[in-house]
Amino acid sequence: MFTFQHHVDNAKVLTGIIMPNQTASSQLTGTVSIHVFAITLVSASQTTAHAPVLAVQNVRSTTKFRVLEDGTEAQLIEITIDNIAPSTAGLAAWVTAPVTIALESPNVETVMPATIMRLRGGDQAKVVVGVVNKCAQGEGDRIEGHSKRQAITAGTPSTVTVTLNGTPMSDRAWEIVAGIPDYYVGDESLRTHESAEWFDDAKFGLFVHWGIYSVPAWTISGTQYAEWYWYFQHNPANASSAVWTHHKEVYGEDFFYDDFFPYFTADAFDAEEFVQFVADVGAKYFVITTKHHDGFALFDTGASSNRNSLNYGPKRDLVAEIMLAANNTQPQLHRGLYYSLPEWFNPSNAYNASAPKEPYTGYVEVDDFLQDIMKPQMEALFYNYETDMLWCDVGGDTVLPAIAPDWFNWARSAGRQVVANARCGANYSDFDVSLVDVPGHVRAHASRLRTPKLRKWESSEGSDPYSYGYNQDTPYEDYRNATYILRSLVDIVSKNGNYLIDIGPTANGTIVPPSRSSLLAVGEWLKMSGEAIYGTKYWYVAAEDSDLRFTTKADAFYILSLSYPEGGVISSSLPLPLKQGDKATFLGIDSAEKELDWQWTNDGVFMLYADEDDLKQVEDVWAFRIAYV
Ligand SMILES: *[C@@H]1O[C@H](CO)[C@@H](O)[C@H](O)[C@H]1NC(C)=O
Ligand SMILES: *[C@@H]1O[C@H](CO)[C@@H](O)[C@H](O)[C@H]1NC(C)=O
Ligand SMILES: *[C@@H]1O[C@H](CO)[C@@H](O)[C@H](O)[C@H]1NC(C)=O
Ligand SMILES: *[C@@H]1O[C@H](CO)[C@@H](O)[C@H](O)[C@H]1NC(C)=O
Ligand SMILES: *[C@@H]1O[C@H](CO)[C@@H](O)[C@H](O)[C@H]1NC(C)=O
Ligand SMILES: *[C@@H]1O[C@H](CO)[C@@H](O)[C@H](O)[C@H]1NC(C)=O
Ligand SMILES: *[C@@H]1O[C@H](CO)[C@@H](O)[C@H](O)[C@H]1NC(C)=O
Repeated sequence: MFTFQHHVDNAKVLTGIIMPNQTASSQLTGTVSIHVFAITLVSASQTTAHAPVLAVQNVRSTTKFRVLEDGTEAQLIEITIDNIAPSTAGLAAWVTAPVTIALESPNVETVMPATIMRLRGGDQAKVVVGVVNKCAQGEGDRIEGHSKRQAITAGTPSTVTVTLNGTPMSDRAWEIVAGIPDYYVGDESLRTHESAEWFDDAKFGLFVHWGIYSVPAWTISGTQYAEWYWYFQHNPANASSAVWTHHKEVYGEDFFYDDFFPYFTADAFDAEEFVQFVADVGAKYFVITTKHHDGFALFDTGASSNRNSLNYGPKRDLVAEIMLAANNTQPQLHRGLYYSLPEWFNPSNAYNASAPKEPYTGYVEVDDFLQDIMKPQMEALFYNYETDMLWCDVGGDTVLPAIAPDWFNWARSAGRQVVANARCGANYSDFDVSLVDVPGHVRAHASRLRTPKLRKWESSEGSDPYSYGYNQDTPYEDYRNATYILRSLVDIVSKNGNYLIDIGPTANGTIVPPSRSSLLAVGEWLKMSGEAIYGTKYWYVAAEDSDLRFTTKADAFYILSLSYPEGGVISSSLPLPLKQGDKATFLGIDSAEKELDWQWTNDGVFMLYADEDDLKQVEDVWAFRIAYV
């Protein structure tokens, strides 16, 4: 089910909602039906407002937390506040001075209030307030051996009221769960887990597909993923498979996939250089393939298998090198590990129906693929490699629901919040994923969304537009350029997504020149304008206005133009939350201190005037900050 939120101009009377045609065609499933289960409407204020009319739309307790400076773990409570004054009401009906939002409750105490600095009539703000559970008065007296005051148990249902500048907003009490209980096995516990703030704020990640498939690194560009080489070689194993034909011609029929092992050398790979690259391109996290569908692991798989890079190929623990280098030299990066749940041809795996008659080097006889391979391997990624993210692939049979609770509790005890994507085969996930369309692998690319998707999501694609793994058949000029990558990033971020751009290193660990140069150019742009990306929230009213995209922070509004602002002018007819006196600047080279002129015209059009000499020093996307004053 998909929850969809849409802003409606609250100065107008809603008389009807026209739904799309009952059936819509989709490349993925043919025809889909749209069923609407419920619609919630928020009323506008009936009065002619001369002051903001703030109304709480929702209060939701989360399992996210922040560790405060004194070490306190504050639970985050999300509060959605509307200014239900009409959008056409004048400035007097806007919030223009800081409003402090907190919670009052018998069971929780606010330790981290939120501040709203600006809220226009008809607009909405989502804020988080940090709370800790209170101590119950007196009760401790009766419990022998415990301190006099007992904290309210984590997980206690409680009521809260919202206060504005210390005054309760209304008598309305909201239900929350006070405190974050330990996780336990069971969907009702798992489903309370959600995407962490670091992931919401990171916005840009670097994906790496690297393994044995980087040696042959071939398919007809644009037809298949090159990392599926072994699969497409044998499915079908005849002349109708281009990979089968290619393999026969280049390597001969007697050359098995595992014969590629020695050519996966990694001899040009340096983990510190790699994590430096991640930082230089402006990514806040990376996700590296620890084991793809061919079953070859880049980490120490212990007793579960010998099919890994410690025993074959480079004879190195590549994942350990990367995690250590990140920890030592780029500790601000979050570390993600990709893990394919199935192996196509593992002798103990149900997928082996179509297995070619080839060796499965390094296979260790096991009773049960899930218990003896998947479980210990995932646990190694959690506890030995301390991943911040499990980026599963494929889904299907899984052990994650049985082992995730211990992982979450263990990470939390160290103040860390770990996440898992939506391809782990579980009934729970922390965020949705979408992959790029490739013929033969057709999937919805969610960056085509026109409005924000409320559930956190991440879109991934290759810098080779057709493949995640390196493909020798893709000409360098076909690779994604900086313009494309930056505009995709900005578009996705304006709709509440993260963008995970992929590179496919060669067998020796080199990043091919077109990926390297375009990503480094993206990094240069992010150094200059990244504040309009990292840590931002989408704008409730609209994500886009033709080539403009919008992002917000508590103290500023950002406008990003995906095309060159002709004549140096940015204009929009949308009800931007900006008032005279707000300070506009261009986030360009050395221009961030130069204040720009802007105005609302008489017919309500926002016009911003930038210096073209400054604009021309920047390429691809032009970002403006308008700080609330
Ligand atoms: C709805 O479908 C009908 C029949 O396919 C088509 O004629 C019509 O233009 C569609 N309407 C919209 C709004 O797409
Ligand atoms: C290749 O194998 C597939 C599946 O077995 C079969 O459908 C197809 O006809 C074969 N094509 C050729 C050219 O032999
Ligand atoms: C690594 O491999 C690439 C592509 O195969 C090659 O061009 C490059 O020279 C190699 N680098 C080193 C240091 O071996
Ligand atoms: C990272 O460094 C911290 C201390 O700075 C240490 O506790 C942790 O075990 C390290 N993790 C890895 C994977 O090296
Ligand atoms: C996989 O193949 C092996 C050998 O052909 C067979 O013994 C085993 O039962 C198969 N496993 C599954 C799960 O089908
Ligand atoms: C998902 O939920 C269904 C229905 O409760 C249950 O049968 C199934 O085992 C669950 N799957 C997983 C992987 O936990
Ligand atoms: C960048 O790639 C896009 C297509 O993704 C293309 O339209 C554009 O011309 C390219 N820009 C440059 C400078 O090559």
